[in-house]
Amino acid sequence: MTQFELRAKDGLARLGRLETSHGSVTTPLLMPVVHPAKSEVSPKQMLAEFGFQMVITNSYIIKSTERFRETALSQGVHSLLDFSGPIMTDSGTYQMYFHSLPDEEIDPIEIVRFQRDIGSDIGTILDTFSDPYVAKATVERDVAISLDRAKRSVGEKGNMLLAGTVQGGIYPDLRARAAMDLAPLDFDIHPIGGVVPLMEQYRYSDIVRATLSAKKHLPPDRPVHLFGCGHPMFFAQAALLGCDLFDSASYAKFAESGRMLFPTGTVQLDRLRELPCECPVCSSTTVEGIKSLDPASRELLLTKHNLYVTAAEMKRVRQAISEGRLLELAAIRARSHPSLYEALLVFLELIGDVDSSVPSAGSNSIFYTGTETSRHPLLKAFQNRIIETYPYRKTTMLLLVPHQGDRPFSDTCALIEDQVKVRGPEEVLLVYVTPIGAVPWELEHVFPAQQCLFPSTLDGSDINIAQERVQRFVSTLSFEECVWLSRDSPTDKIISFVSSRNKVTRVSGVAEVLNLLPPQQHSAPSWTARMIAAILAYQWGVKDATLFGLEHLETSISKATGKIRHIMREGKVIFTLVPMTGLLTPTYEGGLALLRAGAGSDHTVIVDDDAVEFVKQGKSAMTRFVHSASPKLKAGDEALVMDNSGQLLGVGKAVLDASEMKAFKRGVAVVMRHTRH
Ligand code: GUN
Ligand code: ZN
Repeated sequence: MTQFELRAKDGLARLGRLETSHGSVTTPLLMPVVHPAKSEVSPKQMLAEFGFQMVITNSYIIKSTERFRETALSQGVHSLLDFSGPIMTDSGTYQMYFHSLPDEEIDPIEIVRFQRDIGSDIGTILDTFSDPYVAKATVERDVAISLDRAKRSVGEKGNMLLAGTVQGGIYPDLRARAAMDLAPLDFDIHPIGGVVPLMEQYRYSDIVRATLSAKKHLPPDRPVHLFGCGHPMFFAQAALLGCDLFDSASYAKFAESGRMLFPTGTVQLDRLRELPCECPVCSSTTVEGIKSLDPASRELLLTKHNLYVTAAEMKRVRQAISEGRLLELAAIRARSHPSLYEALLVFLELIGDVDSSVPSAGSNSIFYTGTETSRHPLLKAFQNRIIETYPYRKTTMLLLVPHQGDRPFSDTCALIEDQVKVRGPEEVLLVYVTPIGAVPWELEHVFPAQQCLFPSTLDGSDINIAQERVQRFVSTLSFEECVWLSRDSPTDKIISFVSSRNKVTRVSGVAEVLNLLPPQQHSAPSWTARMIAAILAYQWGVKDATLFGLEHLETSISKATGKIRHIMREGKVIFTLVPMTGLLTPTYEGGLALLRAGAGSDHTVIVDDDAVEFVKQGKSAMTRFVHSASPKLKAGDEALVMDNSGQLLGVGKAVLDASEMKAFKRGVAVVMRHTRH
């Protein structure tokens, strides 16, 4: 059973906890590669000085050196390395490739048994490393050999966790096939192998394609290890791809050749006139000081610098995931090298809107970092969901108001919004044209509309994305006339795009808009009802809010903000509107109302009988008790938790998506907010 659980998610990136026989570790995690005898920095120091919780060493080197082998077999690998924390071992695959060793050099099954026998916490199969330059047929054969060894290895693992490496070179189809074939086997971890030469040649786009192709087919509850990724330049992006484990020999290799690692790239010590680093090594000396040392002392200091810097970057990655801001960190790092930037765009293209889970914090700002921001999966998902669910599509006047996206939209055209609010949707629809796309006024407070900070100087590619989104939304509406309030906003340009497909009246002042508004015809539904209906549609796909008894709802409005705070029916609160996200959280009664309106079916989690009492008491619904979950449920969604007979036990926030809830056997599936009382 996999010993892995998730604490938070940010798109594909995960903050997790992996339990081993020598303690549990937090992921994403970097394991420094240590040599059984000649590591400049001992495993104990790795933990005490640099905070590395787990190390990785090579079982082939141990097995092929008599004194290491004897100690490891008699006293265990922890004793050999003098380290009581978790130890992963590799199998010698890379040595076979790098030194072109003959096939007989390592027996694939014996090396797995050996790792088990020396007490490794995580062992690795002897996979076959494919050079990026070999023909596809050769890679295919390598993958087949790795799979055969994988099948023969799983039965040997005993109590050890076993890593089954996905090979497949630069061929996404072979990576996908390899992952599909490994998935049903009893592995605990899946490394992505064969990427070291790609990393050395800055072929990050190939790594992105290979990793995503594999990830798609691997069980979500097994950590993914990016084998040989030790340069901090790529940590943020690799975590963004869903990689959980990393190992680094780079810290030592680079130090040996006088090179310093930074999250922004590699620097040759010889070329420095300053030490642009705040690590303890660089803070306590000068560039002249380091250069004047004897080679061994210099190498040790560079080694330590490299360790401090890689450890710090991994902490930044974990922090960014917990804030839902990993894409921003990866985007900043992507400025360090054009190949990283290209890879980021490949990632954003491939990821599409496959995973648009709301970050755990849910309400953090999304800062513009460059052209990638418009392609943020959350922004794509936001626009798609509006296009899919917005309940008002037919009107007399469509009023388009460009807006730069600073908050809140309505403050900049309060007079117009006041008039829109007293008319019905059949009379006028007000839609803001923002850098993230079209935002109807009813949804202007929904995350991330107010949380995106774009500069007022958008470039062509941002405008293209915004106008494509706006046009896609507008094309779903039917209207008699379209009025555009021209304003000094970068999105004002989009008018030419919209007017090439629709007849648009351009006006330049609020007074003109007010004059053009159709006279009030109907006794319009209250603006609160209209807003609630739009949010219910956005959040739960409620198509007809009258089913929900919308006309009987009462609302309380915050005196401070003028916004809706609570939604009540028959005196009971059924929803709270969260100011930071603009979304509704149901109370228990709200959950019942959603179910009655048939709106809950995409948001249910059914738990086993054993969990019913716990959940009723408000304790989290744990993954191991999840019987089933609606396939569309995403992390961050409000979930309705039920028992096997369909009784609602309570409502809460999903921490995982549906497939993860089913796959994981540890950790929280839903944090309960309100339960049956
Ligand atoms: N170390 C670096 N790359 C690899 C790989 O592809 N497989 C294994 N087992 N170890 C590695
Ligand atoms: Zn330093």
